[in-house]
Amino acid sequence: MCGIIGYCGPRQAADILIEGLKRLEYRGYDSAGIAVGNHEIKLEKRQGYVSLLRGKLEGNVGIGHTRWATHGAPDDRNSHPFTGCSGEFAIVHNGIMENYKELKQELLSRGHRFSSDTDSEVFVHILEEEYEKTGDFREAFFDSVSKLEGSFAILAIHRGEEKIMGIKKDSPLIVGKGNGENFAASDIPAFLPYTSEIAIMKDGEVCEIERSSIRFYDMRGTPVEKKFRFVDWSPDAAEKAGYEHFMLKEIFEQPMAIENTIHSLFSRDFQIGPYPKIDIIGCGTSYNAGMLGKYFIEKTLGIPVQVHYASEYRLRPPIRENPMSVFITQSGETADTIAAAKLARSRGCPTLAITNVIGSSITNSVEHVIHTSAGPEVGVAATKTFIAQVTALYYLGMSVGRSASMLSEKTYSGLMDGMRRLPRLIEAALESEQRISSVSRLLKDSNSIFYIGRGFNYPVSMEGALKMKEISYIHAEAYPAGELKHGPLALISGGTPVIAIVSRDETYDKMLSNIREVSARGATVIAISHEEEVDDYADYRIEVPEADDLFSPFANTVVVQLLAYHTARLRGCEIDKPRNLAKSVTVE
Ligand code: F6R
Repeated sequence: MCGIIGYCGPRQAADILIEGLKRLEYRGYDSAGIAVGNHEIKLEKRQGYVSLLRGKLEGNVGIGHTRWATHGAPDDRNSHPFTGCSGEFAIVHNGIMENYKELKQELLSRGHRFSSDTDSEVFVHILEEEYEKTGDFREAFFDSVSKLEGSFAILAIHRGEEKIMGIKKDSPLIVGKGNGENFAASDIPAFLPYTSEIAIMKDGEVCEIERSSIRFYDMRGTPVEKKFRFVDWSPDAAEKAGYEHFMLKEIFEQPMAIENTIHSLFSRDFQIGPYPKIDIIGCGTSYNAGMLGKYFIEKTLGIPVQVHYASEYRLRPPIRENPMSVFITQSGETADTIAAAKLARSRGCPTLAITNVIGSSITNSVEHVIHTSAGPEVGVAATKTFIAQVTALYYLGMSVGRSASMLSEKTYSGLMDGMRRLPRLIEAALESEQRISSVSRLLKDSNSIFYIGRGFNYPVSMEGALKMKEISYIHAEAYPAGELKHGPLALISGGTPVIAIVSRDETYDKMLSNIREVSARGATVIAISHEEEVDDYADYRIEVPEADDLFSPFANTVVVQLLAYHTARLRGCEIDKPRNLAKSVTVE
């Protein structure tokens, strides 16, 4: 998983590439590099963040790459771009070339020398060979990509030509049309300061980009007509807008993320179902969103919902029924989720994806797509996309319930009102930030934190623990509060922090008992609750606004996100780019 960018126009390509790569760093940041070419191809690449690149290369056409290592260590040698033996071409690649071993063996036997351990480098060597046959860059590019298997978005340049060739298959590639200058990148924010006129490439499409022309082809070289459209993201939407970190900015954008998601969902006539059973599949935070969807759909419709980790779902043998299968992935690029979707579809399950990225790979693998409209999320830890996913799942449940007449008009319109109040609810929850920041001081030196909740608050606990561990590097575990005494209680001792999420619903009294149990073992209990009575049980309480059972998880989520954020900040962690993680995980 990596980010790639290409530029062709009157400006210094190096400046545009480096600036764009910084906006793609959420896709990986092990190493970065650029190649700029006119009469010769000049290269700068190195291990580490994009900001380490000096960018002093002259030229008006170029390509760049920011890497999350898969094949080969994250070092200078394995950084992209690659220029092959002749230095005539430069290429960058995002994805996995599955047949690279065989290709490399053949190339080695024909005298090619490799400078890296990557799968990607084979492509530039193939390009060199194909070019020797015809002397035509475009033709050589087509002939070269036809030899590849796997997933790839590739950009290539050739010495002496102001042209970029690109291909997309199972990894994203977007083309941006400017005024006398053109762009290609893995994601729109990379070139958004220059143009918002974009075309999303489909699998198997090739682009040929020059200063004042863009042509598209299929893999056989037949020209393809593609429509450009304008995106309404301002360049600022991809910047920090005064917040210390993208994650904080994105937490505060949640009222807007819900508002926009609701707006786009409500404006769509959504006839779906009925379905006797639903499977929800995702990874990490998307899995946790699925868990909240399960509690909502089961409670409001009584339809059984099973939630699966995408990586495990793939091991599942065919089952007798084919449930409606809902795949959740903010990036739309998660390899396990895409593979699970393809499997479900091949087994005849009705499939639907919920994703935040228009035109992402998952959209090609399912029959129906719901787009969340959270806007670009840069922080690696998902926040606003999670809230938008849960919003979309609630709406999906309501739509299924309505079209199958499982929800009365009165219940449906009550739920709609609740949905409409969500942005205000989140705003009210965000008002507790000061308090949350001061409570984080109690957590910053912990070795281990426990999160407990029941019912809807169990998935919120899961999400809270995931956020805490990924950005603060503190071990954190979530349990359904009733499970504690079946084992984990043995881990509670003097001063162990326990975050207890307590709503005034059917679980309320039992949660109070669970708080007593851990307090009796010396735990420091931090409760997230609207109920003042909880002060008699917990050591500290973070106030959340009052909300209906079904909607309180939204407010509670905001608190656990901010708790993780402030704890990580006090520990001086790299919040937007936690170690070992990347924004989209395109390896299995
Ligand atoms: C956690 C996080 C990850 C992702 C997971 C799935 O904050 O972001 O756990 O949720 O890698 O990613 P998507 O949703 O892109 O499939």
